[in-house]
Amino acid sequence: MGPNIRGKTAEDIKQALGGDAMSFISLTGEEIEAVTTYLKYLESQP
Ligand code: HEM
Repeated sequence: MGPNIRGKTAEDIKQALGGDAMSFISLTGEEIEAVTTYLKYLESQP
């Protein structure tokens, strides 16, 4: 379900949420930052 998004930037996420598959998802800038931090953490995991 969905592509590998580990390590994606806030800009990537904003763009992806603006697309077709996820246009129903609405996040604040703060929430996007939180997701970005988590995706960065995931990138550090094996
Ligand atoms: C750069 C980041 C992201 C990219 C490139 C991305 C890309 C995609 C793509 C291509 C799909 C369609 C997958 C398919 O049809 O098999 C999808 C689905 C989905 N994404 Fe993302 N995504 C990203 C981030 C996120 C985030 C942060 C969330 C949640 C907050 C999210 C939630 C979802 C959900 C719930 C679906 C399923 C939609 C459905 O069932 O119709 N995605 N995403």
